[in-house]
Amino acid sequence: MKGVILAGGTGSRLHPLTRITNKHLLPIYDRPMIAWAVEALVAAGITDLMVVTGGTHAGEFLRLLGNGHEHGIERLSYGYQERPGGIAEALGLAERFVGDSPVLVMLADNIVERSIRPTVDAFGADPTGARIILTPVEGVEHLRHLGVPRFDDGGRIVEIVEKPEDPPSSYGVTGIYCYEPDVFQVIRTLEPSGRGELEITDVNNHYVGVGSMAYDVLEGFWGDAGESIDAYYEVNDFVRAHGANKG
Ligand code: G1P
Repeated sequence: MKGVILAGGTGSRLHPLTRITNKHLLPIYDRPMIAWAVEALVAAGITDLMVVTGGTHAGEFLRLLGNGHEHGIERLSYGYQERPGGIAEALGLAERFVGDSPVLVMLADNIVERSIRPTVDAFGADPTGARIILTPVEGVEHLRHLGVPRFDDGGRIVEIVEKPEDPPSSYGVTGIYCYEPDVFQVIRTLEPSGRGELEITDVNNHYVGVGSMAYDVLEGFWGDAGESIDAYYEVNDFVRAHGANKG
């Protein structure tokens, strides 16, 4: 399986820190944020990676990661997003890199306590449609910042609602997604959302609609360090005290 780490965007929720650097280069405990996503993928056995970034600090990713070998990456490619057009648009830039492989996509501001290997192995065994990772989330206010699934009585996802005013469950969709290679055809059919972006939730709802969406529920801590300045510090405090990407 190939891996794509998405590290673009303007990081507006962390202004003014992100006026002078890319959000994914800000420190989480003892290293730049993106290093945790790299570690998560490499520890799950994904060593053929592409980092997609944008903006004025793209060169710093090369300075940090180089050819990737020091980080356990076998082959590292870079993609450049000309303007922030959303997560799904950024993923679209990885089309030629991914080719006809299944792909795991991770947003570089997501930090997990436990290994994502169970999801990678499950999708590797049956790489059709999509497989996403959910996490239990406490509090309506927090759920309003995320994609939130609605389930039927059998526990199947029937819809994902992006940033719902009235969350349909108490699970958040993490920024970790597995797709079959036809995801790039799906991206081509998307229309920009209200915030002017191609939404990853629309990609996921495509797979929900055709009945080929699977999911796992993450054990342990999950955080989106780019969600707000408070979330950023919450993630920092957690990782400093407990670490991340543990087996
Ligand atoms: C994105 C997704 C959202 C998901 C979140 C996880 O939100 O759109 O569905 O729950 O990542 O980090 P964003 O961070 O772009 O607001």
